[in-house]
Amino acid sequence: MSERAKRAIEECRLIATMSEEPGRTTRRFLTAQFHQVHEHLRLRMEDLGMIVRVDAVGNLRGLWKPAGASDKRLILGSHIDTVPDAGAFDGVLGVVLALDWVQIAKDISLPLALEVIAFSEEEGVRFGFPFIGSRAVAGRLDPSILACKDAEGTSIRQAIANFGLDPENLEDAFAGQHALGFVEIHIEQGPVLEAEGLQVAAVTGIAGQTRLDLTFIGHASHAGTTPMHLRHDALAAAAEWIIRVEALAFKTEGLVATVGKLEPHPNAGNVIAGSAALSLDIRHVRDTTRKIAVDELLEQANSIAGRRGLKLEWIEKMEVPSVLMDDRLTALMTDAIEAAGFPAQVMPSGAGHDTMIMAGCMPTAMLFLRSPGGVSHHPDEAVREEDVEASLQVGEKFLQRLAAEVR
Ligand code: HGY
Ligand code: MN
Ligand code: MN
Repeated sequence: MSERAKRAIEECRLIATMSEEPGRTTRRFLTAQFHQVHEHLRLRMEDLGMIVRVDAVGNLRGLWKPAGASDKRLILGSHIDTVPDAGAFDGVLGVVLALDWVQIAKDISLPLALEVIAFSEEEGVRFGFPFIGSRAVAGRLDPSILACKDAEGTSIRQAIANFGLDPENLEDAFAGQHALGFVEIHIEQGPVLEAEGLQVAAVTGIAGQTRLDLTFIGHASHAGTTPMHLRHDALAAAAEWIIRVEALAFKTEGLVATVGKLEPHPNAGNVIAGSAALSLDIRHVRDTTRKIAVDELLEQANSIAGRRGLKLEWIEKMEVPSVLMDDRLTALMTDAIEAAGFPAQVMPSGAGHDTMIMAGCMPTAMLFLRSPGGVSHHPDEAVREEDVEASLQVGEKFLQRLAAEVR
C-alpha cells in the first residue's frame, strides 16, 4: 500500500469531477471548469513553494527553483483537457505525478529547477485543433489559428479573452530558452504493458498522425419514392468508404485508421442523406507509410463519390510527424527504471502526446504506466496504485541522475 500513490489517484478522480457534464468527465479547452482545476492545482503548486502563473493560452505553470539551481530547468507536465466522457487519468495523472516528482526533488534537496505545466489543450476536441497549449510553449503556435471557431461560433482568440487572458501575448508562453528538456508521465492507453506483465516503460517514439474532416455531398430525397438506381445517398457512400478505411488499415502493418465521427444530414429515418460529414484519424510510426495511406484513402473516397454521382470535400485538420525521444534523456529514464527495480522496457506510443510538440524545441522523454484492460478515452480508464508508486520511485532515480549530469 502506498499512501502517496493512493492520494495521487484520489486527486485525479477529484479533478475528473470538474466537468462540463454532470456524471461524466468532459473538459474542453478553457471551459469554465478549467478555473476549478487551475484553482486546485495552483494550491498544490503554492504548497510546494512554486511560483505559479497562467500563460497566454491558459497553460497553468509552476516553477520550483531551489537556491543555487541554474536557470536551466527540467519541464514536466501533461494536459488537463479531456475527450468527451473521458477517464480520470489521461493527461491529468501526468500533471499530478509531476508535482509529486517536485515533492521528491525537494525531499532529497536536488539543486535542479523544475517547471510543471498543465497544458490547456491537447485533445483538439473544442476547436478540432489539438496541442494549442504545447504549441505555444514550444513557440510553434501559428497566430492565424486564433480565428478557428468552435460549434458555438466562439473563436480561440475569444475563448482565451473570455478566460481572462491576453491572446496577443502568445510569445509569453515560450519555454525553449530555459529548458534542459521535457518529460511527460502518461498512461500507456493501450494493452501492451499489461499483456507483458510490466508496470512502467520508457517511450522510444510517438507515431505521427493525420486528421482529416471529409464530407460526401449527394442529394437528400424521399426514402419511399426514390428508386435505388436514382439515388445519390451520401450516407451509403460514407459507409462504403469507412469499410475501405478499415480494410486498408488491416492489411498495412502498423497502420491504425479510425472514423470516429459521422454526421449524416438531415439524419432522419425516412430521408436519404444529402450529406455525410466524417472524420479520419490515421497513424503510423513511419511518416511515409502514413502519407501513402492517406493518399490511397482520398483516392478511394473520390472514386466512390464519382461512381455514386456525389461530390467530396475534405480538409486536413492536423498533420504531426512521428517523433523520436531524446537518446540521452531516455537512457536516463531506462537506467532509472532499472535502478528502481523494474525491467527497463521501452516501447513506441500509438497515442499522441504534448511531448511530440515539445520535441520540436527541446530533448524529450516519456514514462508510461500500465493501462488496466488497455482502456482509455473511456470512463473505465484506470491506473494501478502499485504502478503509480513505481513511477514515483523511477522519478526519484531519474531526477537524481539528471541533477548529477547538470551539476
Ligand atoms: O488522440 C490521441 O492520440 C491523444 O490521446 N490525444
Ligand atoms: Mn487523450
Ligand atoms: Mn493524453
